[in-house]
Amino acid sequence: MAGPPPLQAVILAGGQGTRLRPLTLARAKPVVPLLNRPFLAYQLALLRAHGVTDVVLACSYRVDDVRAALGDAEHLGIRLRYVVEDDPLGTGGGVRNAADLVAGTLFVLNGDILTDPDLTEMRRFHETRGSRTTIYLQPVPDPRQYGLVETGPDGRLRAFREKPAADEEITTNTINAGIYLIDAELLSRIPRDRPSSIEREFFPALIADNIPCFGWCPTAYWRDIGNPSAYRAAQLDMLHGRAAMPLAPPGQRRDGIWLDGGSTVDPAARIVPPAVVGARVVLGSRCRVGPGAVIGDGTRIGPDARVEGAILWERVEVGAGAVLQDCVLGADVRIGDGARVGPDVVLASGTTVPERATLTA
Ligand code: GDD
Ligand code: MG
Repeated sequence: MAGPPPLQAVILAGGQGTRLRPLTLARAKPVVPLLNRPFLAYQLALLRAHGVTDVVLACSYRVDDVRAALGDAEHLGIRLRYVVEDDPLGTGGGVRNAADLVAGTLFVLNGDILTDPDLTEMRRFHETRGSRTTIYLQPVPDPRQYGLVETGPDGRLRAFREKPAADEEITTNTINAGIYLIDAELLSRIPRDRPSSIEREFFPALIADNIPCFGWCPTAYWRDIGNPSAYRAAQLDMLHGRAAMPLAPPGQRRDGIWLDGGSTVDPAARIVPPAVVGARVVLGSRCRVGPGAVIGDGTRIGPDARVEGAILWERVEVGAGAVLQDCVLGADVRIGDGARVGPDVVLASGTTVPERATLTA
């Protein structure tokens, strides 16, 4: 007899990542590197830790990047399939497009949130309440850029308002955290062939039609990585232990430093924890990397340079005596000798910064 069907998830990974530009000009948002691993690897690890082994990625933009970074995810213990929208169908249409591959109760995730909730507990909550759609909720200081969710005393959904414009609509600081459990039978309510929004159409209609839907509020780390400062902060949170790391960075860990293979570290170079140093990195004499540095594969840091609170993608060249502080550098960036790159600067892949230049945000 066949065993129970595998637990399934759909991940929405088809946005253009506009707010994460210029980083997303070079790489799709779902696979931008976090601690030298593609972002979605963390979501897949979270799902796998809660028994989900069958995942459908709903993509539409830069699908080749995503495939190149994740493949079929066999190494993560997951069967990963891709459904591709010719034209973006929105968050509703994206899930609808995956509906033929799923059945039963499925997780649906926004593909840009770093979080560590107990999804097993979420399923238990969903089942015991007899819920047909459960939304993971988070309190935030400023809810305006999110989906606001009002619930009754029993947790039942009362209202869902996506990014309301008027002040009088800001009635709660509890927001949609971007993970749902949905009874797949409900997906037929989403139109098949036109763009639609799960937040603006599907959820409000479920509430209007009195279908039992609940909000679930765990205590968990949560961050939408969809803009550069959040993208950098999420990595520092993992490095400093403020966010759980569902996957360790590549390489060997020693004293708060992860060092991947093939790197050349000058005996007079210093790595100050926490820091992640990728494969085939070259650290020059007397340079200082960290605290809070992520160095991508093949990057070279020149003598006397300093890198602190900064995220560097692959093959960056940092000149002698340059200083990088609290910034993000895309792949193949070149920093001239003695240049300084300051807090919150984000450099697109391939940028060249001249010798002794000073960049501020
Ligand atoms: N397949 C597909 N097709 N995916 C899409 C599309 C599309 O046309 N448009 C967006 N997505 C994906 C994005 O890649 C992202 O993973 C997810 O859907 C959410 O889109 P965002 O553009 O990141 O939305 P947001 O951050 O403004 O708001 C959403 O997330 C908030 C939490 O971070 C909403 O769900 C809010 O309600 C929520 O509070
Ligand atoms: Mg987002």
